[in-house]
Amino acid sequence: MFIFEKCLALFTFFTLVLSGPIFGNDTSSAALPYGYAGSTGPNVWHKMSAEWKECATSKQQSPINIHARTTVAVRDSQLLYPAVAMFEVFYEAYALRVQLVPSDPQEFAAMLGGRRYRLVQFHFQLPGEHTLEDEYFPVEIHFVHESVDVPGQLAVVGIFGDFLKGTGAPDPIFSSLKNQLEVLRRRKDARLHASVDLKGVIRNIETSTIRYYNGSLPFPPCSEGILWYISEEPVRLRNEEFQDLKKITKLNSRHTQNDLGSPNLLAMACPGAGCLDEVSSVGR
Ligand SMILES: *[C@@H]1O[C@H](CO)[C@@H](O)[C@H](O)[C@H]1NC(C)=O
Ligand SMILES: *[C@@H]1O[C@H](CO)[C@@H](O)[C@H](O)[C@H]1NC(C)=O
Repeated sequence: MFIFEKCLALFTFFTLVLSGPIFGNDTSSAALPYGYAGSTGPNVWHKMSAEWKECATSKQQSPINIHARTTVAVRDSQLLYPAVAMFEVFYEAYALRVQLVPSDPQEFAAMLGGRRYRLVQFHFQLPGEHTLEDEYFPVEIHFVHESVDVPGQLAVVGIFGDFLKGTGAPDPIFSSLKNQLEVLRRRKDARLHASVDLKGVIRNIETSTIRYYNGSLPFPPCSEGILWYISEEPVRLRNEEFQDLKKITKLNSRHTQNDLGSPNLLAMACPGAGCLDEVSSVGR
């Protein structure tokens, strides 16, 4: 009975907390019970709630190592965003999140795999969550879109950020957020506005090879059916821009999961009957 009540309490708690995941457009900043390292990290997410089992059982978990063999190169992807636009900027769910201002009259459309989407928000992962042919990147930007035709269908465009090289220029998306990062460093709960220059990322998606796969939310509840479009070509940032971002987000990346369709790595590590079933208060 006690166990049952405890589970019910946990369930209610997580249901409430989950109303503000970083892929939605809810702007609540409730403290989340999961983390990215140690006893609340990705290796134990499935033990924190009965709702989060998929993190340890699903065979199409994100992020993955992007490989020509396991993903599909897609053509004609387009971000039909305005070149420069106002966004709201804040720290939430371990990420620096840049959210559409609801009153913004501009339509932020995207064409991905022949379907039409609408931008909800974008955020930064450090280090990059996906790897490309086993190579890591210091940053990955996730542009989260919702389908115009299929309500609730999310598609995420991922663009890696890598350090400046040779005579290349830094992407203006990073310098657009410089002042906001300074304020957030002093006041983590600040909600700010920023005029963000999107020209570089718009061009990136038009000129780079985009790799598609059908994966999952890369954080609890790890739900399947998230469509990923990862650009092979990184945008560039200055060392100082990386340092500023890192101070805000800290480490906020899940480690790469098994190849799509192969057993979940946690299920492989826990092969005994009932081994994954226990929901504990681990890390809390
Ligand atoms: C965002 O909010 C709009 C309007 O309230 C809603 O229709 C849409 O489904 C939400 N999208 C996501 C991804 O939560
Ligand atoms: C993606 O995977 C989900 C769950 O595994 C499946 O239900 C869905 O139909 C797939 N979507 C596409 C577009 O392939």
